[in-house]
Amino acid sequence: MNDPQFGKDENQEIISLEGSKIKKIKDEVQKNPNQFWSDCAKNLVWFKEWEQVLDWKYPFAKWFRGGKLNAAYNCLDKHLTTNKKNQAAIIWEGEDGKSVTITYSQLFRRVNQLANAFKKMGIEKGDRITIYLPMIPELPISMLACARIGAIHSVIFSGFSSQSIIDRVNDAKSKIIVTADGGYRRGKIVPLKRIVDEAVKHTPSIEKVIVVKRTYEDIITGENDVWYENIVNRESSFCPSEWMESNDPLFILYTSGTTGKPKGVVHGNGGYLTHLYNSAKWVFNFDPTDIFFCTADIGWITGHSYVVYAPLMHGVTEVIYEGAPDFPSPDQYWKIVEKNGVTILYTTPTALRSYMRYGNEIPNSYDLSSLRLLGTVGEPINPEVWKWYFNVIGKNNCPIIDTWWQTETGGIMISMCPGIENIKMKPGSGSFSLPGIEIEIVDDKGSRIKDDKKGYLTIKKPWPGMLLSLWNNNERYKKTYWEKVDNSFFAGDFAYIDKDKYIWILGRADDVLKVSGHRLGTIELESAFVSHPSISEAAVTSRSDEIKGETIIAFLVLKKGIESSQHLSIEVNEYIKRTIGPIASAEKIFFVNKLPKTRSGKIMRRLLKSIVNKETIGDISTLEDEASIEEITHELDAINKQI
Ligand code: WT7
Repeated sequence: MNDPQFGKDENQEIISLEGSKIKKIKDEVQKNPNQFWSDCAKNLVWFKEWEQVLDWKYPFAKWFRGGKLNAAYNCLDKHLTTNKKNQAAIIWEGEDGKSVTITYSQLFRRVNQLANAFKKMGIEKGDRITIYLPMIPELPISMLACARIGAIHSVIFSGFSSQSIIDRVNDAKSKIIVTADGGYRRGKIVPLKRIVDEAVKHTPSIEKVIVVKRTYEDIITGENDVWYENIVNRESSFCPSEWMESNDPLFILYTSGTTGKPKGVVHGNGGYLTHLYNSAKWVFNFDPTDIFFCTADIGWITGHSYVVYAPLMHGVTEVIYEGAPDFPSPDQYWKIVEKNGVTILYTTPTALRSYMRYGNEIPNSYDLSSLRLLGTVGEPINPEVWKWYFNVIGKNNCPIIDTWWQTETGGIMISMCPGIENIKMKPGSGSFSLPGIEIEIVDDKGSRIKDDKKGYLTIKKPWPGMLLSLWNNNERYKKTYWEKVDNSFFAGDFAYIDKDKYIWILGRADDVLKVSGHRLGTIELESAFVSHPSISEAAVTSRSDEIKGETIIAFLVLKKGIESSQHLSIEVNEYIKRTIGPIASAEKIFFVNKLPKTRSGKIMRRLLKSIVNKETIGDISTLEDEASIEEITHELDAINKQI
């Protein structure tokens, strides 16, 4: 395999941060941040200019205060007077091989019709609409229709189940749910409407359920259900854009944290869109001829930012794929790249790891020569996988951007920026932070630590894409992100900076799991286990996994009188899948008599993690009863022997 180095220049040196163009830009930002960010914001269309670039009242930032704009206008209307008007905005590829192309003007009409339909149903600026749809065009259309009239969208990943819908809808007090009769997943039909029917029994705020026909299931339609096609058909194809103040919320997206309750991350308009537009320009270096394929589900932040808003603001053509990477055959992405001449592929280490397992022959049998840039996101990428991506998919010709960011950051924070310059890549490192983003690695006390030493990743200054707050919970926002380290944003990841100033992300430092790149909270999972009638206590941890990165391992204490059995283990796992969703399926369930806890009663998940990953166990002096660890180790040994 070739050494992963872009540009084929044998003498290419590591460009240290010092000598880089990024550094020059960073110095400029430091001198005059307001000028820099206001130049960035000018790439958007504003109805009214802002009065102040940043109004920072720790820990709340108001970017471009007083400015007025509309996200849907920036994604659609602005292209209608250019030659992009009749170009493809979205090429949609169905799991069944069906494909649909939607031009910018068609997308504009469909968004406007739905916006008018929402209005007719009484939706006003600031109202919340929950969207629970599979990866079909109606998903971005619904989001943009919300944005157009100033309704706040709350998208729920269509792999989540009823309980997740109930929690999220009740927190946001949404008035409407947009869903589909069913969705396709690996050839099977997920009964989305039936899941919603279960949920709406417990969501008093919901007035109407709008149903898209996708699988043509037999579904029950109640008096509050309306068919999507019936409400949009006769609507006018123009709906005026609401003038949104830059800091009015654009959406809520729920994400897992370290408590049982998901956090409603709120993003605004002006700052968020400015961050997206500019990060996409620097990182993807979008060109009008690009065919961009981001494989993320829109139910997660990557899909919000880099399937919906960023590519459409830039007017590129993008591919949206409905299905799984390996169904019906393990070549779906390569097939789509060849068929559409995809130029930029932005995907996850998990998908790459699963493809790698099938060997090189499959990707080698496709023409992937249209690709010019490869990206990854969501979890650390192993250097072997990185090299495979570079050699086999990119044919040593495409830079790889390893982009680090989070639901909370809104957009990419650390990545190489081919739109500014190509630098020598180091497989596994995202390289430097983007212009205007100041990262610092700190110790337990919040003091900056020496390079090459592992610590907590923090962000030292507010940035435009940062979350406005947590929905209805300013206190939790402050506590979670701004009080762990004084005056800095606490990201929850371990990282270090090497001697060339490259940043290396080492994974989560808290009780958040990354299963196939999807974020799940251990406590959230534990609450779901404990809600099963046979279970009294639960501790969840993870084991590293070659494909998924991490998998869920659950330690469960049964209620008195309940016997453990293989049957119960299966039943409990089915229950979890029904409650949270199939992604929450446990790799292994162990029934134990006791959980390891500290003297103050906290479950020692770190210890369980060491045990399941066969690592050495650290200090256990604070344990309530050491016997429980022995017991678990003993049980594990016994179980491992059985396999
Ligand atoms: C967490 C955020 C970023 C959008 C998708 C996930 C992990 C993200 C990387 C990367 C190593 C990464 C971090 C982060 N993560 N990107 N390039 N290398 N780890 O968003 O669900 O909010 O998860 O994903 O642990 O904190 P999210």
